Amino acid sequence: MWTAERGPSPRQGRKRTMSAAIDFDPSIIFGPHPAAPRPRAKPPGFFTAYRAMRDNPITALSERAFEQPYVRLSRPGGVLLLSEPAAIEHVLVSNAANYRKSRQQQRRLQPALGEGLLTAESDVWRSTRRITAPLFSPTAIANVYADMEAAAADMRDRWLEQCWQPTPMDLADEFQRLAYDIVSRTFFSGAVDRDRMLLHAGMAVYFDTLGRVDLATMLNLPTWLPSPDRFRARKAVALFRSTVDAAVRNRVHGTNGETDDLLDRMITAVDPKTGRGLDTNAVADNVLTFLAAGHETTGNALAWIFYLLALHPEDEDEVRIEIARAFDGGPVNRDGLDKLVYTKAVINEALRLYPPAPFIGREAIEEDRFAGTHVRKGGQILISPWVVHRHKALWYAPDEFSPVRFLGDAASRIQRGAFLPFGLGPRICIGQRFAMQEILTVLATVLPAIRYSLSDPQSVFPQARITLAPRNGLQAFVRPATR
Ligand code: HEM
Repeated sequence: MWTAERGPSPRQGRKRTMSAAIDFDPSIIFGPHPAAPRPRAKPPGFFTAYRAMRDNPITALSERAFEQPYVRLSRPGGVLLLSEPAAIEHVLVSNAANYRKSRQQQRRLQPALGEGLLTAESDVWRSTRRITAPLFSPTAIANVYADMEAAAADMRDRWLEQCWQPTPMDLADEFQRLAYDIVSRTFFSGAVDRDRMLLHAGMAVYFDTLGRVDLATMLNLPTWLPSPDRFRARKAVALFRSTVDAAVRNRVHGTNGETDDLLDRMITAVDPKTGRGLDTNAVADNVLTFLAAGHETTGNALAWIFYLLALHPEDEDEVRIEIARAFDGGPVNRDGLDKLVYTKAVINEALRLYPPAPFIGREAIEEDRFAGTHVRKGGQILISPWVVHRHKALWYAPDEFSPVRFLGDAASRIQRGAFLPFGLGPRICIGQRFAMQEILTVLATVLPAIRYSLSDPQSVFPQARITLAPRNGLQAFVRPATR
């Protein structure tokens, strides 16, 4: 059903904390709304769209995209941007077998991730998902809680040591490093830790370079064509491969039985259905996939949560009070995380306004008809959590931060397909539970110990590449909570 979320204004009766709209930069929405580009009045022509797509794809979108169930984006071959929940479910869930990952995405990710879980198709994907799924079971995720908390506590203690410095800290960068640390500790027992800073920096270069839309992508050219961006990213790719290949080889030849992690399991696991395991190359592809998919996204989610809480002090207070009650002022523990109901609503609202994976692309294997539209064989489909989550037909006051929409009855009225930060269907994010536990653990471990304020809130602006990050980071002054 194509209906807007109904009900009273989610902010009714609550004090506004931001000033009224200031309109000095037409590309930015200020005022009560967190930063976002203002949609264009008219769909842009090909070259304007190309420039905007290359610079920051969310600035290429027109108002129609946020009002219509679907729009064809202007370019040869016309990508179909789908926003109707039923149509999204058709593509991602009920007829998922007819859609593979889009060329655009493969062009950007396959050079580094090869045939890892995120980029593999058909039987390779099915087998890899069966092999890795047990690592993400509720018990397995509960078992990595201690590592998550230890990493968050290390970062918090480092912040407390550094916070006397007069310069602001870049919280976005801090959270990226923390998320990398957490994936590396929990899944690989630190095996890919030796060159941590180098690898983290390499991934940032990779995402920035290959995350840019190029002309070949706009023209829907075959993925094997050489691309200047791929050439520029080759150093970063070579660094990933050599580091990860070495870590995998060391573990294959030198395991001493002391570890029991994702890397061990990927090396030893056999798919129950086929009896076959992953070869060394496939293991390396997947190590890189879990590092890449598991750290940029969660790091960005944390940055956006801290940004939004800084803009909304009353919500920040509610989160602080809830955390204090859940743990009775004592140490954070796994069971207490389940009590953080309002905090979870804040996380969901941040994932709605700033979905860390802003675009999900698919390509039709055979032609298809649904929701009054026709998709030809090879037709490209774009499902954008950024657009769907801010769609006027689906959300009340879509650009406002309002966690209460994720509580009680209001939450039950949200249509499946209208909120999809982790995707939907068989290829839904395998790390969703891991990410939610990680974010809750970080908030519960860090927030009670500190107070923070953004040094320049108006400079924060969402930048879309493969993930959605705050452009220029998130500069903030941090001080101990007691002062
Ligand atoms: C807030 C954090 C995260 C967000 C928003 C997110 C988002 C997504 C989305 C939207 C997809 C589906 C892509 C598609 O259908 O084309 C996906 C897939 C995936 N994610 Fe996440 N993710 C997050 C955290 C993680 C973590 C922590 C891990 C691993 C530790 C992870 C690993 C993966 C993998 C391996 C896939 C591919 C699954 C498959 O195709 O079977 N993600 N993620």
